[in-house]
Amino acid sequence: MSEETRAVPYQTIQRKRDGAELVAGELAEFFRAYGAGTVPDYQMAAFLMAVFFRGLEPAELTALVDVMLHSGAVVDLSDVPGRKVDKHSTGGVGDKVSLPLAPLVSCLGVAVPMISGRGLGHTGGTLDKLEAIPGFRTDLTLDEFRAQMIRLRCALIGQTAEIAPLDRRLYALRDVTGTVESIPLIASSIMSKKLAEGIDALVLDVKRGSGAFLPQLDRALLLARTMIAIGERHGCEVVALLTAMDRPLGYAVGNALEVEESLLVLRGEGPPDLRELTVVEAAEMLRLGGVAASVEEGRKLAQQALDDGRAAHQMELIIEAQGGNPAVVEDPGILAQAPVRRVVEAPEDGWIAEVEPRAIGQAGVALGAGRATLGAPIDAAVGFHITAKPGERVSRGQPLATVHARGAADAEQGAAALLRAIRVSADGPAEVLPLVSHRVTKEGVEELRG
Ligand code: URA
Repeated sequence: MSEETRAVPYQTIQRKRDGAELVAGELAEFFRAYGAGTVPDYQMAAFLMAVFFRGLEPAELTALVDVMLHSGAVVDLSDVPGRKVDKHSTGGVGDKVSLPLAPLVSCLGVAVPMISGRGLGHTGGTLDKLEAIPGFRTDLTLDEFRAQMIRLRCALIGQTAEIAPLDRRLYALRDVTGTVESIPLIASSIMSKKLAEGIDALVLDVKRGSGAFLPQLDRALLLARTMIAIGERHGCEVVALLTAMDRPLGYAVGNALEVEESLLVLRGEGPPDLRELTVVEAAEMLRLGGVAASVEEGRKLAQQALDDGRAAHQMELIIEAQGGNPAVVEDPGILAQAPVRRVVEAPEDGWIAEVEPRAIGQAGVALGAGRATLGAPIDAAVGFHITAKPGERVSRGQPLATVHARGAADAEQGAAALLRAIRVSADGPAEVLPLVSHRVTKEGVEELRG
């Protein structure tokens, strides 16, 4: 490090706290020192909080992405034919799209090297869901990952110690220090691990609405643009879709329940919103991967592969290759089942005014479907199956949801939380966000008609 960038950690924290722009070398050195163990968690937590309030200037963000990306290996997938395309969601409740999407897109000829994370805060994580499949290994070595990519064009793994290890530590620290909801921290976290996959293109699902980390439209758009710009700098084409998280996606919230619902989509069934978002994202990936000439053509290809069994078969191959029991695709009864089920009914006649995802995600964590503390074990079987959707007319006593719990007391608590989160009103149908409201590319923002 040059004299110009030499600083002791507490001075770097103070400068960021006071709103100064750090020279790139100073910021990079601070993060490298954290990686090397000479900056402790408490100083990094203070720095992250300063970034939360002060943000990062473009040059600081560039330096942060570089140091996170190069904290580990960039996977070399040059042996895998064709373009490599992945997708990432900024996080939601009931968002299990990655599970049907990866086999769907890869069965149509695009390579999908998918490296996913665990649940964060009230949101679920693809890795926790995959691990609900009996025997499924998410901890493939990079050599195993590459070999499976060559054989099946798809592998679904967690962030290994080799892939953006700095993000792995920062992600866990942010989860417990109130520093998740920051545009530069989310953008650098997502883009560093995605760029480390060695991809050519990426579809981002940027959530908005009360269950998203950034609920407001303007902040979601800024996050999308920030990640597109990072992708551009690294030669990775990025398309971002702004999607609704003012209600859970699909019906299931909870790991085994979400796997079951994903398998339904792969068999041409499943909740309409989940199937639609899977098809929309697949269409973009197929276009980016050069398999479809247009998004419309991609849509048709995706729908056919869901309906004729090719996507489900590809999922069987992936599960088998990663040590899981492929019979689960036809028989989801193999998945862990919660011993107690409790049906929640509409308390009165009216319209569903709200199915509030953040409260539902938090109630899921309380049941054991997510983690309240770092590294806590999760219970794959528990969660909710919520069929009520905003805008629907309901009658008193009509089933709205089922709680899947480990014990009777948990089931009661879960039911009470659902009755608070699912608001029934006499005031007429509720307004909801369009499932997909905006498409953002380096060319600009396109507002979609829903
Ligand atoms: N997903 C990530 O990978 N990182 C974040 O910071 C938020 C969501």
